[in-house]
Amino acid sequence: MKITIGSDHGAVDLKEAVKKVLAEFDGVEVKDVGTFGTDAVDYPDIAEKVCADVVSGESERGIVLCGTGIGISIAANKIHGIRCALCHDVYTAQMSREHNDANVLAMGGRVLGFGVAGKIVRAWLKSEFEGGRHARRVNKIMALENK
Ligand code: RB5
Repeated sequence: MKITIGSDHGAVDLKEAVKKVLAEFDGVEVKDVGTFGTDAVDYPDIAEKVCADVVSGESERGIVLCGTGIGISIAANKIHGIRCALCHDVYTAQMSREHNDANVLAMGGRVLGFGVAGKIVRAWLKSEFEGGRHARRVNKIMALENK
């Protein structure tokens, strides 16, 4: 599975920590679209880069990070085809896959410790979409894009 990851300046350290967790998984390839320093960048630009890869199919999933995770998740969810879940705990990470088929995970670098973030990423990667009644609801979410 290929995953595109990106962060603004508020989560560069978390991005590096998450990449170490992703390296634990056999078959996971990571594309890092930045940012790579502490100079301020605008999180919508990072969301756009990550989500472009998910929408095009270059990557199956995306991970977006900013200071709180809020701005970049809002931006990601404006992009057609994206279901971005902002998660601060393992339960919501698992549910975002099982019930919502989230294709992008958002987290906040100023909110989470690296240990918790690592558990969130592992849960998010190991959990599968359950389909069934959840598929009907996800289809309704996606239909909202055309209203
Ligand atoms: C940048 O200072 C900060 O606003 C951003 O990282 C994020 O927290 C926005 O939601």
